[in-house]
Parts: sequence; C-alpha cells; structure tokens
Amino acid sequence: MSGNRLWALRPPEQCYHRFRIPPMTRIASRVSQLNGEGALAVYSRAKELERLGRSIIHLELGEPDFHPAAPIVDAVRAAVAAGRDRYCATRGLPALREAIAGYLKRTRRLDVAAEQVLVAPGCKMALSLAMMALIEPGDEVLYPDPGFPIYPSFTRGLGAKAVPFLLQEENRFQPDLEEISRKITPRTSMIIYNSPNNPTGTVFALRALERIAELAGKHDLWVVSDEIYARILFGGEYKSIWALPGMAERTVIIDGFSKSFAMTGWRLGYAIAPVPLIDAMDLLVLNTFTCAAEFTQVAAIEALRDTAGAVDAMVEEYRKRRELFVAGLNRIPGFRCQAPQGAFYAWVNIQDTGLSAEEVQAILLEEGGVAGIAGAAFGPGGKNYLRFSLASARNLLEDALERTQRVSMHWRAAVSR
Ligand SMILES: Cc1ncc(COP(=O)(O)O)c(C=O)c1O
Repeated sequence: MSGNRLWALRPPEQCYHRFRIPPMTRIASRVSQLNGEGALAVYSRAKELERLGRSIIHLELGEPDFHPAAPIVDAVRAAVAAGRDRYCATRGLPALREAIAGYLKRTRRLDVAAEQVLVAPGCKMALSLAMMALIEPGDEVLYPDPGFPIYPSFTRGLGAKAVPFLLQEENRFQPDLEEISRKITPRTSMIIYNSPNNPTGTVFALRALERIAELAGKHDLWVVSDEIYARILFGGEYKSIWALPGMAERTVIIDGFSKSFAMTGWRLGYAIAPVPLIDAMDLLVLNTFTCAAEFTQVAAIEALRDTAGAVDAMVEEYRKRRELFVAGLNRIPGFRCQAPQGAFYAWVNIQDTGLSAEEVQAILLEEGGVAGIAGAAFGPGGKNYLRFSLASARNLLEDALERTQRVSMHWRAAVSR
C-alpha cells in the first residue's frame, strides 16, 4: 500500500516552509529550531484538491465557523469611524485591561488587577512575549505531548530544551504528576500547559493543578497556563492554577478573543502575570509591534460584555456537535474516541485500523474528502490519533461521518482480524 500515491502527503515539517532559503542567505540559527503547524499542511493539500473540483469537509483547522456577534462588529465600525486608529498604549488600552480583569472575576472568579494585564495581537504573541521574558538559553521547559506544537518549537527557538510530559489515554489524558516530578532538573524553569487541552479536549483535574502548583513552589518554576479554551467547557466550572495559594506570583495566564469570541483574524490576546513580568513584556512590545490595533481593542471591550449571550450559544452548539460527532466516530470500525471535556476537537484513537494515522489521514482526505490531522503533528504522543475540529456545522459533521464510514472499507479487514 505504501507505494500508492495516496500516501504521498508529505510530513508537516516538510510542507510548512514553502520558500526555500537560498544557500548564501544567512539566517540566524534559532529559526532552524522552529517547526510549523501540521494543520496548515493538511489545509494546503485540501485547498489544492478543492481547486481540482473535489468536495472537502474541513475538520483540520481550529477556527470557529462562527463570526463575532453583531454588537462587536458594530463596535469596531464605530471605533474606526471615530478615529480610534492611532498608536496607543503599549500594554493595551486601560479600559480594556480593566474590562479583562472584570471578565476574569465574573467568569473564572480570579482576582486580577488591571496592572497585571498585557494586551497583544493574539494569544500566540502573548505567549511568545512571556516566553521571551522568562526563558534563558539552556533552560528546560516542560510541556504536554500531545499538545500545542508552538510550545516546544518556540522553547527551542529561545535556545532552551523542550521536555515533554505525556498525556495518555489510559490516564484519561490527564498529566502524570510522577512523570513531571521525575523530569524536573535544576535547569527546569517553566511548565507550560493548556487546559482544556488542544488536541485531547482534557480539562486538567483540580488535583493535577494542585500538584503542579506544589512542584512549581518547591522547585521555583514559572507556570504558563494557556487558557484560550477556558470558556468552551462542557461541564463544571473552570479552575485556573492562578487562584491556588502562592500561584499568582509565578503564573502567566494566556487567553484571548480568537476562540471564545470567534475573533481569530482580529488578532487579539492577552497575558495575565505579576507586574514586574508585565513590565518586562511591555519593553518587548515597545521593541517589536508597539501596540495591538486600537479599534479591535475598543471592540474587544464590547465582546467581553457579551450582551448577545454569544459565548453560551456557541458553546451549546459545540456541545451538540460533540455529542453527534463523538457517537458517530465510535461507530466507525477501528476508531475510538473519548468525549472532550472542553475545547472543540475530537481526538480519535485509530490504532485498531492497523494503519498509521498518516495513512488514515490520507485515505480520508484523498478518497473521502474529509480533512483531519494525524496526531503526530501534536507530538510523538499523538502517533496513533487523528484530530478533527468541531468547528463545522452539524450537517457537515454528519456528512463527514458518512464519508468516513464509506472509506473505512480500507481498514475494516484489519479490524475484524
Ligand atoms: C492551545 C492554543 N494556544 C494558542 C493558540 C493561538 O491563539 P491565537 O489565535 O489567539 O494566537 C491556539 C490556536 O489554535 C491554541 O490552540
């Protein structure tokens, strides 16, 4: 089978960089430490197939299919019309920083002062500022595998060592605190995680957060808690490690508007951190992008008010999609999927198909017209998995299930053996 052209999809690290760097061009070596995102490689191939006239259901990107609620769009129009398009405060508009502190109090019961908020163009930018401000070359940084691929990539780019800790199915994708404890060395300076987790959908248990906090205190570590999916929760109340005793001094929360408010392209995120760290990050802002756009910040204040109840409505729709899609995936021979506790991804174990995740990904895309991502894009721990995004309407998800059933003939024989 491996000679079949279907399997010709190149691995993400080869696909991502479209431009070849001429041999004589001197590029700083840190760039060679970075990797791309697998989702974008699959997306490019899916788009190519669409250009050839194929029908593709896009379940590869983590981009909501919703758009921002009408009051947010009205607010950005009004802000531009009112001339709110100037350079502005490097750490973000004071009114937005206040509004973010109030929002975190309302939705996450966190005590955060406006001075502890820094606004950036996107969560990724807030994350990279925090990492630039805190990580020294030679440090070790613990991160989840599978997890958001930017954590190890940017860690390496800063000359530090990225040390994975596993999120395993037999542990319901919760972190193993014994493993984390074992992997802490005198060089460890930070633990980064994301809960609800992309790609597994796991919400870290309070007990796990308490143990991470204990270890951080004992070994004097920073904790970066990426809470970008905190509002997309299918049960219970979100618990942030920031609220645990002593943790507000050593935690950075990363969050933003891309997922909760469906504002991906607006590029707006923020970091919550102790004031000395906010000061350091502010200097980095001044030396790089100067400020996030003023008019998007004005509209973000409106987003946080959420007068239309858009966030709850969106989460309700994700819940329906989750129920439909996870049940359907579990009926496909060779597939096994736990319901995500949060975020909008289905993380499917495909080991019983007898094929590699890359092979299943290629069959689904090239024959079935369904774009999902082989889990290795999220680290070696994702080797036997595929990630599908729930950011598509229910009728499309139903269609994707039907198509997947149809092409599952490729591996059914292996499943029945
Ligand atoms: C875990 C995680 N963190 C950060 C981001 C990036 O967010 P933003 O679009 O705000 O930069 C994503 C986007 O997929 C994500 O999944």
